Amino acid sequence: MDVYEAVTSRRAVRAFTDRPVPQQVLERVLSAASWAPSGSNLQPWHAFVVTGEPLAQLKKRCAERLATGDSWDEPEYEMYPATLASPYRERRAEFGRQRYGALGIARDDLEARQRAAADNWAAFGAPTALFCYLDRGMGRPQWSDAGMFLQTVMLLLRAEGLHSCPQMAWAKFHRTVAEVLSPPAELMLFCGMSIGYADPAAGDDRIGRAPLGETVSFIGG
Ligand SMILES: Cc1cc2nc3c(=O)[nH]c(=O)nc-3n(C[C@H](O)[C@H](O)[C@H](O)COP(=O)(O)O)c2cc1C
Repeated sequence: MDVYEAVTSRRAVRAFTDRPVPQQVLERVLSAASWAPSGSNLQPWHAFVVTGEPLAQLKKRCAERLATGDSWDEPEYEMYPATLASPYRERRAEFGRQRYGALGIARDDLEARQRAAADNWAAFGAPTALFCYLDRGMGRPQWSDAGMFLQTVMLLLRAEGLHSCPQMAWAKFHRTVAEVLSPPAELMLFCGMSIGYADPAAGDDRIGRAPLGETVSFIGG
């Protein structure tokens, strides 16, 4: 698979089979992904790869919290600006329309939306999840480094025939994640990522992108 194919075939998969991901594949992907760039080579990401019983425990604990209507953990970072200006507001609305429309959920059916969102904390059925932490003291450039690392992981997963879904949703239950992972206190959870083989029954629809002219300006040349 060439890089273009890896990039264009990567999509946020939200339904996985329970086929296990071999440990040596995960090790190959994570060791290649360590070549991701970072400012001054800080490599500020801390990845925890969770499978088997600990992941089952995590899914169970989250399901219990959801069932009792437990509120989210206090946020450690803002996932989005409080107000989204145009064109981001429209892009977000379009994402919601496509994501929930594909599931046949009406715009105002908040309960059904919440039920669908709950699949996040079951890792969408994936047998493996990765959790990306950063030192609390790190700034915006280091968060960007973590993004580069995560995208590198996702592209390498494609080369192995695997799919993924990056998920900030896990940060809403960061305390429960920490109970299972026991990360050092100085780390904070950025996001999780479900990893596995895509369930072919779930289809392969994907959301589009803004036209190039909206996001890229060519100057000169
Ligand atoms: C940092 C980050 C966090 C995300 N968090 C979630 C999430 O919590 N749940 C989810 O279903 N998708 C999540 N996504 C996936 C995005 O919705 C998805 O990447 C976007 O809509 C573009 O679709 P595509 O990845 O299929 O091309 C996240 C993506 C990123 C990069």
